Amino acid sequence: MKLFKLIFILFTIVNLNVFAQKKATAKSSQMDQFVKSLMSKMTVEEKIGQLNLLTGGEATTGSAVSTDVEQKIAAGKVGGIFSLTTPEKIRKTQEAAMKSRLKIPMIFGQDVIHGYKTVFPIPLALAASWDLPMIENTARVAAQEASADGLNWTFSPMVDIARDARWGRISEGSGEDPFLGSAIAKVMVKGYQGDDLSKNNTIMACVKHFALYGAVEAGRDYNTVDMSKDRMYNDYFPPYKAAIDAGAGSVMASFNDINGIPATANKWLLTDVLRKQWGFTGFVVSDYTGVNELSAHGLGNLQQVSARALVAGTDMDMVGEGYLTTLKKSIAEGKVTMAQIDNACRLVLEAKYKLGLFADPFKYCSEERAKTEISTEANLKAARNAAAQTFVLLKNENNILPLKKTGTIAVIGPLGNTKPNMVGTWAVNANMDIVPTLVEGIEQVAGKDVKVTYALGSNLTADSVLQKNSTMFGRDIPRDNRPEQDVINDALKVASKADVIVAALGESSEMSGEASSRTDIDIPEVQKRLLAALLKTGKPVVLVLFTGRPLAIKEESETVPAILNVWFGGTEATTAIGDVLFGDVNPSGKLPVTFPQNVGQVPIYYAHKNTGRPLPAGGWFSKFKSNYLDVSNDPLYPFGFGLSYTTFNYGEVKLSNISLNPGKTITATVSLTNTGKVVGKEVVQMYIRDLVGSTTRPVKELKGFQKISLNPGETKEVSFKISEDDLKFYNADLKYVAEPGDFKVFIGTNSSDVKEADFKLLK
Ligand code: BGC
Repeated sequence: MKLFKLIFILFTIVNLNVFAQKKATAKSSQMDQFVKSLMSKMTVEEKIGQLNLLTGGEATTGSAVSTDVEQKIAAGKVGGIFSLTTPEKIRKTQEAAMKSRLKIPMIFGQDVIHGYKTVFPIPLALAASWDLPMIENTARVAAQEASADGLNWTFSPMVDIARDARWGRISEGSGEDPFLGSAIAKVMVKGYQGDDLSKNNTIMACVKHFALYGAVEAGRDYNTVDMSKDRMYNDYFPPYKAAIDAGAGSVMASFNDINGIPATANKWLLTDVLRKQWGFTGFVVSDYTGVNELSAHGLGNLQQVSARALVAGTDMDMVGEGYLTTLKKSIAEGKVTMAQIDNACRLVLEAKYKLGLFADPFKYCSEERAKTEISTEANLKAARNAAAQTFVLLKNENNILPLKKTGTIAVIGPLGNTKPNMVGTWAVNANMDIVPTLVEGIEQVAGKDVKVTYALGSNLTADSVLQKNSTMFGRDIPRDNRPEQDVINDALKVASKADVIVAALGESSEMSGEASSRTDIDIPEVQKRLLAALLKTGKPVVLVLFTGRPLAIKEESETVPAILNVWFGGTEATTAIGDVLFGDVNPSGKLPVTFPQNVGQVPIYYAHKNTGRPLPAGGWFSKFKSNYLDVSNDPLYPFGFGLSYTTFNYGEVKLSNISLNPGKTITATVSLTNTGKVVGKEVVQMYIRDLVGSTTRPVKELKGFQKISLNPGETKEVSFKISEDDLKFYNADLKYVAEPGDFKVFIGTNSSDVKEADFKLLK
């Protein structure tokens, strides 16, 4: 009877799958027919028009701004618009498209990066949560709000691996690790696109910046990338591929040069890798004036670079109008074929079809939804919960934290009384007025028995020009232009009446993000001098550190008793900071990126190769070893690091079998105990090392993680299955293989503090 039931269930599953596949095939052949028939009516100009993306002008990142937009739309010369919001404005603009000869609807995009009006923590912070369902939900909420405001396309997720803290855009991605980055890329795409792009509350994702943008030389934005294929395929490509595998509808080509050919004109990248190797079927858009910028890269005039970009596989031209103004001439001169134009045009039209825009061009234009589905209480609550999961407790000497909800707390520092700097970079839709300052956030959580006072204490940076450049886009922080010591003295007066000092220091939100690279990744000196003065008071000091990148805080890690790294937490950043400071929420974030001792160690990442002259573990300087004279090789805080208000104890790693047969799995298990006094969450991390390879392999690679909640005294067995797939890598022939031989598995609380066991992959 049981067997019969099982067979019946299996039969049903198989049938359902076949049915779903048939449905999908029917849908795609309907789409093919529709698009084919539409294209048979289109002129060359109209086809080229579909490849033209213009900006509605609400937020721009380049020098070019689109003009005569409505006329161009009505003439069928525009395929999409970005940075225009609200159902009213989008309806009006879509109506212009409905006046064009073939009434082809436009797509409406925007940089909805970490939330829409309800802003979630910056992507680097979200990665620090290691909480995939929560991260997926942030994308879901963002899609819900953005689509309620008329949008159907987002330039997210940004999945560039970044191992250089100087690069400002490290804040926009998931950090240094391909495994964590891939897992996040996948859930972000799922969150935006849901299971059906044609629903009016899902939006199309755009994976960016393809590719390798995070590896720009010297961390300088838009700079050159020169990289081996070993590194590309094993370390930098996986998150893009994961997003493609998850069904992302579009891809954005990156600005950077790759081994001599900029991504936007790189046929190997955009056609051979993306389409032929990975099977991508969506469309590729350039970055902002990325096509035009090929001229500055040295590839020729606008006509030449436009032809080259199209032929390489860039289907849509963002803002620069190189396609619009030159492609027709290139066809006539035989530089571009009609088939190439047709192909790009088809891909853009298919995206519109999948979004359901041909069925109803105004389906995202609901004033009612805009009123009821944006910045809802539920969304703000989700933002607060999310933010609290992203903070990383770096130090907590003598359990200074959590704070008591009594007495006087002095909040001191340039980040303590600012609203706009709490949401972080790339939050173009944020309603910054509703964001509580840190003082207000702490007050809200603390209740009536706590007095919260404030003093500026120092400017953001001593140099007023640097401060101005670091507080663009309405992120001003007022300056006090009196002598520095006077400003400090005022703060010391406020501090003297307090029981605890909360030093709100670090970066402003625009000190990271696009075109915000830094060569000095310390806390600005003027703030450090303030901190030293605060520490001298002898009062307990908690450093609440705002940052969009790993900062070099060696000195602070030695002198300050408690450090909570809060990144930029979004709309509810400060209430969440209050939740964690007072222990209503126990911090559980873990660094998704290595914190260096100083900028000279950068790029620094845990999954490095061993070299032929490795330094013995725990060592410092040793002549003729791979090390520095002046600083050890160790990071200040390793990848995966983060403390809790409770403590966890890890048992030894137990393996179900020390031999792994191909096609089978083995299980690695540790027992994890909450040895402290409060409930807490721990991110248990599993790493693997391939001890002998046909190519050199990293000393450790993340291959699994689980976020586990434990009550005080509770123990749980935490298990990870290991299969041959987990051991695969791209070899010298770029074949994805697992090589039989010896491996180590490590399980622990961060990438440095692990227990290990050995196993073999059999032939
Ligand atoms: C950025 C992209 C962004 C685009 C559109 C560019 O400058 O590099 O990440 O999506 O602008 O705003």
